Amino acid sequence: METGQKTEEKKRELSAFEAKNEAQKLAFAPVVFQVVVAMQRLGILPLICKHRKGINIDEISKQTQVSNYGVKVLLEMAANADIVKYLDDDTVTVTMLGYFLNSDEMTRVNINFTHDVCYDGFKYLTESIKNGKPEGLKTLGNWKTIYPALSILPEPIKKSWFEFDHFYSDDAFRDALEIVFRENPQMIFDIGGNTGKWAFASCEYNPDVRVTILDLPSQIAVAKANAEKRNLLNRISFFEINLLDKSNKIPQGADVVWMSQFLDCFGEDEIVSILENVKQAASPHTTVFILEPFIDNQKFDAASYCLTATSLYFTALANGNSKMYSVKAMTTLVEKAGWKVVEEFPLIGESFHTILKCRLA
Ligand SMILES: C[S@@+](CC[C@H](N)C(=O)[O-])C[C@H]1O[C@@H](n2cnc3c(N)ncnc32)[C@H](O)[C@@H]1O
Repeated sequence: METGQKTEEKKRELSAFEAKNEAQKLAFAPVVFQVVVAMQRLGILPLICKHRKGINIDEISKQTQVSNYGVKVLLEMAANADIVKYLDDDTVTVTMLGYFLNSDEMTRVNINFTHDVCYDGFKYLTESIKNGKPEGLKTLGNWKTIYPALSILPEPIKKSWFEFDHFYSDDAFRDALEIVFRENPQMIFDIGGNTGKWAFASCEYNPDVRVTILDLPSQIAVAKANAEKRNLLNRISFFEINLLDKSNKIPQGADVVWMSQFLDCFGEDEIVSILENVKQAASPHTTVFILEPFIDNQKFDAASYCLTATSLYFTALANGNSKMYSVKAMTTLVEKAGWKVVEEFPLIGESFHTILKCRLA
């Protein structure tokens, strides 16, 4: 299903009583979210996790240097949200939910991204939808889209953005390399190559391949510095390009064009225009690989949940007009631009991703 919701596992309709209860949880969801962040950053949640048999509130206060009042208000909310549970009036232990909030890497990356990058900007979601512009971006800085600013975002926003981006693509790269290198590419164009991770992984995977990273000037500067540190300037080239400007043409010369978590940064018309730009530079032997986490191609409900939430980050903060797409929607755009999907590699490895392999139609 295109929405990312599974039809076959239809959820039971809530009773009126349950629905009203759930509605209050949503009404205060931002409060609970901030409680989790505060408990994590003040060291309270990690401490409770170390004491699985329970820890006393005074002891938490002493060890974390947080006032008794501060510990109490946080824990009382956390207990109601099933993050901790009281063993007696003064002693708490962690629940399974609290344990994962504290120790699961994907959860940590998602929470930091939501808190540091998105939280303030999401207040402007309504205006962003109305205006088709990322009205929340002004909470981070004065830019039209987030992309030219990625390398100059203030900390901890920058760290949280990159950890979020890399967490999802890194996992997919291992299997992706194997699929892409079946084509025996001599020259890969990595469009939206970002800090260079794919280019470096490719050079490590194959001793002969050459890679050109195409990206905005600010990203190219970062990728180039990273390549220099790795002594890869003899194998990696760089091409500054703003692909929203249709007059900027992608150069010829690639036998493989790689786009990882890139097309989701654009609206539908923009995707078609970028793929047409790739087409004008292509030869009949060019293979295009699109790596995306598609909302309709996920094993776990949590994955579709994360992806549809990520779409709203694009709406309110990134550019106002892009989203995470379904395979069906992306395939339609690929075809509109004169390409065809010749093979699909779904849910490679343990990642959320699918690779669409495309050739000229
Ligand atoms: C979400 S990141 C993906 C990075 C990387 N490919 C990965 O898989 O982790 C999107 C990349 O597209 C680049 N980008 C965004 N808008 C662009 C534009 N208009 N022209 C060229 N590159 C752009 C960004 O600078 C960024 O490096």
